[in-house]
Amino acid sequence: MKSIHTAVRDQFSQHADYYAQSSAHAKGDTLDVILDFADPKGTEQTLDVATGTGFTAFALAPKVAHVVATDLTPEMVVKAAELAQEQAIKNVVFSVAAAESLPFTDASLDLVTCRLAPHHFQDVPAFLNEVYRVLRTDGLFCLTDSVSPESEELITWQNRVETLRDNSHVYGYPPSQWDTMITDVGFSLEKTAHVRNAQMSFLWWVRPHQNPPEVVQEIRNAFAQLSPDEARDHYTVKPAGDDFYFSWPMYAVKARRR
Ligand SMILES: C[S@@+](CC[C@H](N)C(=O)[O-])C[C@H]1O[C@@H](n2cnc3c(N)ncnc32)[C@H](O)[C@@H]1O
Repeated sequence: MKSIHTAVRDQFSQHADYYAQSSAHAKGDTLDVILDFADPKGTEQTLDVATGTGFTAFALAPKVAHVVATDLTPEMVVKAAELAQEQAIKNVVFSVAAAESLPFTDASLDLVTCRLAPHHFQDVPAFLNEVYRVLRTDGLFCLTDSVSPESEELITWQNRVETLRDNSHVYGYPPSQWDTMITDVGFSLEKTAHVRNAQMSFLWWVRPHQNPPEVVQEIRNAFAQLSPDEARDHYTVKPAGDDFYFSWPMYAVKARRR
């Protein structure tokens, strides 16, 4: 079986241009909440983990002293560096690194951010331990990611659907498990928030050019098997002819290193 890191690189190496142009990733509540929780003072030595094509790093750059933006996929890092050059952003540097093994010395950073990525991580507790290690005492960790609802049935449903569509999906935890994992490492939780990504067209999201028709149908059937309350309350499902629109629940955390 492919390792998760290989699956992630295989998946994201094909999508650097797509991500760079994706308005769903360029802005939205999950970015605003990170900026709000980080509340930068202008002096922060910052790390953005799993930066993709750099949206979070670029939004932080004018508000902090310096950003190192890391990602597992070299093609994403190359694209992000090109965009930084085009936009004349001078205080961001890029590096290829796994979230589970951060190439920084202990207590060397003031702020670590990570947006829309840990559901692809091979080992989230190892990532959280690394974030704790590289932050100085009182340093801040700000996270947003897609989460499962607090229901065993829907945790199984959502992770099955996500993995069918993208084999680099590992696990979407529910918010309560995030809180436990983050506090177990030693952080104190200062704020949390429930947010959403933009409504997505199923027919766009399901990547029909990449996934075979039987897989697309299996995922469509899985949505059809949700109860009307689950579809509405957890996934904001709205029919639109042959298509439908939906969104994933997202969770945001502001945690301080003690
Ligand atoms: C949806 S994109 C990230 C979006 C980005 N953080 C933003 O704000 O636009 C997910 C990224 O996570 C990266 N990734 C997945 N697993 C990783 C890991 N274990 N370590 C580092 N990066 C990882 C992928 O290469 C991909 O670029």
